[in-house]
Amino acid sequence: MTEERSLILVKPDGVLNGHIGEVITRIENRRYQIKALKVVNASKEQLAEHYNQLVDKPFYPSIEEFMQSGPIVAMIVSGKNIVETFRKMAGATNPSDALIGTIRGDFAREWDKGSIQNVVHSSDSIESAEREIKIWFPEEK
Ligand code: TYD
Repeated sequence: MTEERSLILVKPDGVLNGHIGEVITRIENRRYQIKALKVVNASKEQLAEHYNQLVDKPFYPSIEEFMQSGPIVAMIVSGKNIVETFRKMAGATNPSDALIGTIRGDFAREWDKGSIQNVVHSSDSIESAEREIKIWFPEEK
């Protein structure tokens, strides 16, 4: 059986505020394996594919603007239950709801206006992980 994978992004706020190392440390502390890692400037096309379930929402332009406001770090991370476990490690979507001890609870700012800025993205299912890996790592099998 192939190992479970997730697509994890450190979003522009996480990069700008210096949390790349912290996110990687938390992944390594759980003994997950980073299989690929790159710094990228997200294109509109990549973002529209990545957020295909949100692209028609009225707030999508603010997500696009935020996700293009600076470089992001994209990773393929593998290990047992990585998808479910990293979602727990990331915490709730809205930083105000994210528990202390989660990445978003510890590092995300209050959500005041525009897009929610919540430090990380992680795939919400094994199927979406494989779909998202193709968007950010087209060179990977
Ligand atoms: P979603 O997939 O619902 O959350 P998660 O990232 O926890 O899987 O939404 C994707 C991103 O879109 C979310 O991290 C932040 C942004 N977003 C907003 O800016 N405003 C909103 O009202 C929602 C629902 C999401």
